[in-house]
Amino acid sequence: MIQFSNVTKIYNGNVKAVDDVNFTVQKGNISVFLGPSGCGKTTLLRMVNRLVPITDGTISINGTDTSSLNEIELRRKIGYVIQSNGLFPNMNIEENVCIVPKLLGWDRKKQRDRFNYLMDLVGLAPDEYRNRYPHELSGGQQQRVGIVRAMAADPPVMLMDEPFGALDPIIRTHIQNEFLQIQKEVQKTILFVSHDIDEAIKMGDRVAIFKDGKLMQYDSPAELLANPKNNFVRQFVGSDRAIKSLSLYTVADLLDQTKLKPVKNKLTTPRVSVDTNLREVLSTLFNGSESELLVEDHNKQVIGSLTIADVQNYLQSNSQTA
Ligand SMILES: Nc1ncnc2c1ncn2[C@@H]1O[C@H](COP(=O)(O)OP(=O)(O)OP(=O)(O)O)[C@@H](O)[C@H]1O
Ligand SMILES: [Mg+2]
Repeated sequence: MIQFSNVTKIYNGNVKAVDDVNFTVQKGNISVFLGPSGCGKTTLLRMVNRLVPITDGTISINGTDTSSLNEIELRRKIGYVIQSNGLFPNMNIEENVCIVPKLLGWDRKKQRDRFNYLMDLVGLAPDEYRNRYPHELSGGQQQRVGIVRAMAADPPVMLMDEPFGALDPIIRTHIQNEFLQIQKEVQKTILFVSHDIDEAIKMGDRVAIFKDGKLMQYDSPAELLANPKNNFVRQFVGSDRAIKSLSLYTVADLLDQTKLKPVKNKLTTPRVSVDTNLREVLSTLFNGSESELLVEDHNKQVIGSLTIADVQNYLQSNSQTA
């Protein structure tokens, strides 16, 4: 658990970058810091591992005030993915990843096993990449290595500053999905900076929206979309928040309320799984030539079909919360 209590940062005696911020991040949750450029997201993140000194207030991790801890010890327990991936250009990929494990005195085999395990996890063949240098990787691959490095020593807390920022939309979606899959297993406490509302909705258990250093709202994505607290949040979330809220629900949720229709044509219609989110379903329906989709269960068996009307009905029946 990470607790921010009356946290303020004033740079150079006059720039108030973070202004009296209070909120708590539960253990094992992803909390997304969201807001426009310059609103204080990076500053707040860097106060957690004390790369930026706190002007006023306290940040505590599991009840311990971070200012009472030794800085080096503190940072070893916190993985940090910086805004640009921050790999060292003169070290190869394996050396980059194993910096902290090495500092912690892990033996060679343990370091290598960890490197192999994590690289596989993010879809980079360990043997293909270990001896390469960062400039020999694409931007997206470098970002993955940045994430692997932050996870290397298995820290309970991760700070991630726009970790997927440099990726094109398709790879970005893929890595977001991969990352959420990994998080299901590892259950880290993650502070994740983004300025993209869609990413925040997808990645966050909670989303903190900031404006000029002040915390505007701290809520679950569903609550944020349903009940923006003020005009700033409403504008930031966007006028299509009903559609956005569809990404929080899957076909399986819809099936709680709707009966699928029998399948007319088994061959030509595009298919979705019960785990597909409803926003994707809608976009598949809009983009395709067919007016219905086949739904597959976890065993890839077709269990029925659905149409735009089904999604519309679902949206309307949940409209008090969307
Ligand atoms: N070292 C510094 N000295 C003085 N002012 C700073 C310093 N670092 C940041 N600031 C100021 O503090 C404010 C918050 O900056 P910060 O980098 O935390 O914003 P951000 O929300 O991460 O922005 P972005 O989305 O562009 O990364 C800005 O007004 C910035 O100019
Ligand atoms: Mg920043």
